[in-house]
Amino acid sequence: MLELTDVSITYRAGLKPAVSRISISVADGERVGIVGESGSGKSTLTSAILRSLPKGARVDGTIAYQGQDLGQMSAGRFRELRSVEIARIPQDPLASLNPVIRVGDQLRHVLQAHRSISSRDCIPVIEEALAEVGIPEPEVKRMAFPHELSGGMRQRVLIAMSLINEPSLLIADEPTTALDVTVQAQILDLLQHELDSRGMSMLLITHDIGVVTEVCSRIIVMRHGQIVEDGPTEELLANPKHPYTRQLFAAARMQVDATQKKAVQP
Ligand SMILES: Nc1ncnc2c1ncn2[C@@H]1O[C@H](COP(=O)(O)OP(=O)(O)O)[C@@H](O)[C@H]1O
Ligand SMILES: [Mg+2]
Repeated sequence: MLELTDVSITYRAGLKPAVSRISISVADGERVGIVGESGSGKSTLTSAILRSLPKGARVDGTIAYQGQDLGQMSAGRFRELRSVEIARIPQDPLASLNPVIRVGDQLRHVLQAHRSISSRDCIPVIEEALAEVGIPEPEVKRMAFPHELSGGMRQRVLIAMSLINEPSLLIADEPTTALDVTVQAQILDLLQHELDSRGMSMLLITHDIGVVTEVCSRIIVMRHGQIVEDGPTEELLANPKHPYTRQLFAAARMQVDATQKKAVQP
């Protein structure tokens, strides 16, 4: 479905590459997680896939979606693909929603971008999309402005927005980082449920190894712009080969222990 071959990305001539010679493939229906500390090049990689790198950035190697080279694709064709087949869940729900447009209208704009559907006909589709991501009273909530919703509800709106055109590939860059731990768990459950019922592929980017082990069947570990390890989740958990992967797992276990200790304290 998605195939990156020998991809290197440099932000400006003279800078050292933010991503060096990365090859990744995501099969139909597969959920691949990319983990790595902040600054390891994860977001740079997603921006390259979505052709949203700043001007002056250079991408070497090829990024192909269903055999089509995204780098060579016309802007018009890419826009279409981007709004219909490849969806993205951004990290910051507040920054990603327009503050002065009701959430229902924002969903409608996404729906109408590539389909001729009347605004009246959009209403039931929008209400269903909101209900599906667990938003109560969708007929009321579609009239809300983003600031009238909680962080978790806003992230649900963004998930509804990313799913409304029924994409085949979902790219989620730190989709739960901005949320409270309990809300994070709910959003992850929701994502998993949606992926299961739609058979979508996903590339999930996060610095949180706990999140990927829960959701993904394969894990890619990045460090300093390179892949240090790539393998099935079970294998990586049982037998991490690279010291950096072991370090990530150890840090994640410490975090879990600390949370549990806190939980049992009176
Ligand atoms: N717009 C930019 N211009 C120049 N360098 C950037 C830009 N965005 C990110 N970088 C650099 O690229 C590297 C990778 O960053 P990023 O992809 O954001 O990492 P991650 O998402 O893993 O935290 C970092 O060294 C970062 O400083
Ligand atoms: Mg990032």
